[in-house]
Amino acid sequence: MHMKLGLIGFPIKHSLSPWIHNQFLEKSGMKGTYSIMEISPDNTFEQELERIKESGLDGFNVTVPYKKQIINYLDDLDKNAEIIGAVNTVVCKNGKWIGYNTDGIGYVIALRKNFPEIFHDKKNRILIFGAGGAAYGIYYGLKSEGFTQIDIANRTHSSAKAIAILGDNNVETSILSLDEAQESINSYNLIIQTTSVGMKPNTEDTIIPIKSLNQKSVVSDIIYQPLNTRFLMDAKKTGASIHYGHTMLLYQAQYAFELWTNKKIPIDNMDQQLKTILEGR
Ligand code: ATR
Repeated sequence: MHMKLGLIGFPIKHSLSPWIHNQFLEKSGMKGTYSIMEISPDNTFEQELERIKESGLDGFNVTVPYKKQIINYLDDLDKNAEIIGAVNTVVCKNGKWIGYNTDGIGYVIALRKNFPEIFHDKKNRILIFGAGGAAYGIYYGLKSEGFTQIDIANRTHSSAKAIAILGDNNVETSILSLDEAQESINSYNLIIQTTSVGMKPNTEDTIIPIKSLNQKSVVSDIIYQPLNTRFLMDAKKTGASIHYGHTMLLYQAQYAFELWTNKKIPIDNMDQQLKTILEGR
């Protein structure tokens, strides 16, 4: 069987997804291709999708800026993706397109692989910075794991509030301003940075300066370009443990590949290999 896979988004010429999925294809012993299908915002999205539909793909990933827009063109939507309101993986089956979101689950799996102890106490206090698509997936993923205290800090209060509505009686969520988060940051066990602040080329930027932290806390940044964001480096200096963003990229891809092929490919040393690629960029 020859799997035809790919990625839509813009700009995606330097995406690492082809590297990841080509490794998965090789490890699975399946023949296949994973193509970059860049859709410029100047083109008509609908026409481009028609062309993609005709090409007979088995599945594809969706990245910025189309994760919400794609929903209008799907035949079915997984419950998780519906709640999150964004799709990053489409399965094409019998001419139908079904949308999923593997980002939040990918984050949770990566976190468990690297810091299993966090999952031993569901009362651990969690703080998420940001309220974009990634924050939705991660909040929902952690809530589904049974964590009971997940706060959100964001520049815009209303966006954070919209995520908190996904909560229920089992989760307590306070909405914090960035200043409030800075003041209370050492009361959290897990801190997750999901905004675009600090991404290349603005590597000097940080969502908040970190001066002190609970030494036992774990700090994640989902940015992986650069791998060592200022946020993570500040956290490291305080003695906290840090969790790199490329791991989420790997595990969301692992789950997407499983949705397309029913095969779960072990990550093995791909974690270290991807880190080396990113460090060289
Ligand atoms: P994604 O869907 O990839 O997560 P997004 O929807 O563009 O990205 O969300 C970006 C997040 O980064 C938001 O939380 C945004 O804050 P606002 O809700 O206030 O817009 C946050 N963000 C981006 N630039 C920021 C900046 N300069 N300062 C503070 N927050 C910023």
